[in-house]
Amino acid sequence: MYNSKIAGLGHYVPENVVTNYDLSRLMDTNDAWIQERTGIKERHHIKKGDGNSTSVMGVKAAKIALQRAGMDAKDIDLIVFATLSPDYYFPGPGVLVQEMLDIPTCPALDIRNQCSGFIYGLSTADQFIKTGMYRNVLLIGSENHSGGLDFTTRGRAVSVIFGDGAGAVVLTREEDNTKGILSTHLHSEGKHAKELWLEGPSTEYWVPALMEKNPLEDIPYYPYMNGQFVFKHAVVRFSEVIVEGLNSNGLCPTDVDLFIPHQANLRIAQFVQNKFQWTDDQVYNNIMNYGNTTAASIPIALTEVWEQGRVKESDLLVLAAFGSGFTWASAVIRW
Ligand code: ACO
Repeated sequence: MYNSKIAGLGHYVPENVVTNYDLSRLMDTNDAWIQERTGIKERHHIKKGDGNSTSVMGVKAAKIALQRAGMDAKDIDLIVFATLSPDYYFPGPGVLVQEMLDIPTCPALDIRNQCSGFIYGLSTADQFIKTGMYRNVLLIGSENHSGGLDFTTRGRAVSVIFGDGAGAVVLTREEDNTKGILSTHLHSEGKHAKELWLEGPSTEYWVPALMEKNPLEDIPYYPYMNGQFVFKHAVVRFSEVIVEGLNSNGLCPTDVDLFIPHQANLRIAQFVQNKFQWTDDQVYNNIMNYGNTTAASIPIALTEVWEQGRVKESDLLVLAAFGSGFTWASAVIRW
C-alpha cells in the first residue's frame, strides 16, 4: 500500500467581485447583517459572457496545479470532479475537463457530496493511489452558484452566502507512509437531505411540471436551506469528525499546525476553533473574500495558505467539512 500526497495546487475565481453593498441594491439586506451572521464581505460571481462555467473554472485551477506539480495533463490517470453545480445535468464536468485538457481516455469521475465534496474526492483519489491502481489523480472542486440563486429579498437568507470559484490539486504516489494523506473520514445522514437542497428540476419534478405549476411563493428551483438547523448540526459534526481523524492517528488538537475548515460560515469556523483552543495562526479562513464556494472552498483556502508560505514540510494539516446531504468529512495530512 502507498500513501498519496498533494504535489501541486491551484485556484481560480472569476474577476467580477460582488460586495455586500452590491447585493443590498438587489434585495433587502445590508453589509452589517451579512458580516455579523456570516463573516462575508464580498464574493466573486461569474459575469455573463466572461467565458466561465463550473468546468472552465475547474480547468483554470487545474492548469496551475499541474504546472506546480511539474506534470503535463497527459500524466493524469484519473480525474475526480466535485461539484453541486455542474455545467449540465449530464454528462458531469469531469469529462468536460478531460476534453479541455486534451487527455484522451483516462477515467473521469464526478462526486456529488456538496460542501464535503472535496474531501470525499480526496478520499476517493487516495484509495486509488493507495492500492496502486492509479499514480496521478487530478482532483477539482468547482462551483457556479451565482447561476442558480434567487437575488431577490425572497432568497436573501441563501443567496448572500454563496460565491463562485474553483480549486484543484494533483495527487500523486508517496512511498513514505508517514507522509501525505494519513487518513480520511466520511459520513452522511440522508434523513436531513431536505434541510439544504434543490428540489427541481429533478427527475421527480421535471421542467414541464415546473412550468405548469409556476409557483409564485414556493420556488423549488432555488436552493432551500434551514439555516439554523444546518448551523446546529454543522458545529457538532465538524467537531466529531475532527476528533475522529485525530484519534485514528494517535494525535491531539495541540499537534495540529493548520486547520482548514470548509468555508461555510465564519461563525461555524470560530466555534470549532474555540472548541479546540486553536490560535488564529492554526486556522485559515477566507470566507470574507469568497463567500461559501462549497466543493471549491477547501482547495481555494489550501492553495492560498500554501501560496502565503504557511504550509511547511512535515506540518500536520486537518481539513474538515459539513454540508448538504447532510454529509461531513475530515482529512489528516502530514505535508
Ligand atoms: N439580510 C438581512 N436580513 C436577513 C437576511 C439577509 N440576507 N437573511 C435573513 N434575514 C432575516 C430573516 O428574515 C429574519 O428576519 P425576522 O427575524 O424578521 O424573521 C432574521 O434575518 C434572522 O434570520 P435567521 O435565519 O434566524 O438568521 P440566522 O441568525 O439563523 O442566520 C444564517 C442565518 C446566516 C443562514 C445562519 O442560520 C447560518 O449561518 N446557518 C448555517 C448554515 C450555513 O452555514 N450554510 C452555508 C451553506 S451549508 C454549509 O456549507 C454548511
